[in-house]
Amino acid sequence: MRLLKRLVEADAPSGREDEIRALIIREAEKFGYEVKTDALGSVIAHKVGNGKKLMLDAHIDEIGVIATYIEDEGFIRFGAVGGLDVKELHKRRVRFANGVVGVVAAEDERFEKKPELTRLYIDIGARDKAAAEKLVCAGDTAVFDGGFTQRGDTIISKALDDRVGCYMLLQTMKKVKKSPNDLYFVFSVQEEVGLRGARTAAFNIMPEYAIAVDVTDTGDRPSCAPMDVKLGGGAAIKVMDRSVMCDSHVVGILRSLAEEKGIPYQNEIMADGGTDAGAIALTGSGVRAGGISLPTRYIHSPSEMADIGDIKACIRLLTAACEYKWE
Ligand code: CO
Ligand code: ZN
Repeated sequence: MRLLKRLVEADAPSGREDEIRALIIREAEKFGYEVKTDALGSVIAHKVGNGKKLMLDAHIDEIGVIATYIEDEGFIRFGAVGGLDVKELHKRRVRFANGVVGVVAAEDERFEKKPELTRLYIDIGARDKAAAEKLVCAGDTAVFDGGFTQRGDTIISKALDDRVGCYMLLQTMKKVKKSPNDLYFVFSVQEEVGLRGARTAAFNIMPEYAIAVDVTDTGDRPSCAPMDVKLGGGAAIKVMDRSVMCDSHVVGILRSLAEEKGIPYQNEIMADGGTDAGAIALTGSGVRAGGISLPTRYIHSPSEMADIGDIKACIRLLTAACEYKWE
């Protein structure tokens, strides 16, 4: 889990992925793939093969905030980078790229009446505007502060969405012995602001098949929306989310590989949110796309929770998908 810890602890909101990109390139180059970076900053690792082009994708960015304006009193107004749950931001910590930590706070009564981003500010403890501007400027980005912890098979961290996907791709790159396919591993940027990096990477590759690897919600918490996915239930094979109807051939192959290898799996139909699978499917004249997801509680918070057994199941299924001959 040392590598996963390093991956989640890199601070990299959408469009500001330099730190995580450098780490991914270093890791990806260990396995003898041809590694390059595209114009938006996505990392593409290629292992040449004779068969169909199979693209596996995980996004390297995380949600965050961006400073928009500094008040005379030194409080920082901000905007969202990605899908923030505004109601839950009050009293959370965020960390800017230079290490400055601030507390998100609300204009109390007004926020309670109407939880809007414009009623929140970041307090970095600066005395006034001049003092604040020595530390943070409009345009600076920050991410949630939420360190990695593990107990038994349970892990908790910020940015499991989607560094755990990056981790699973890297582990798969290491494990795949021989592939009958032309294999591409894509570590894409800017997913959280609209599935952007995966779109340009897929255009570059134009794969026949693609599998997006990301986190998915669960239906196993007290009075949450019903969903047929739970922590510890194995790899989630995506059928649908808000961005994609997965290709039925891809879904069928993934299920039969799981059955054949005895890999625990569950069916993912995610009511909220999309994934890179959606953008990839609509690239060029279309790509047959599916997804393998890690069941995760409290997505888009500093305390995302997942299960190591599920991570292992996903890696086994990804490895099986790489070794299967796609026709
Ligand atoms: Co996300
Ligand atoms: Zn994600």
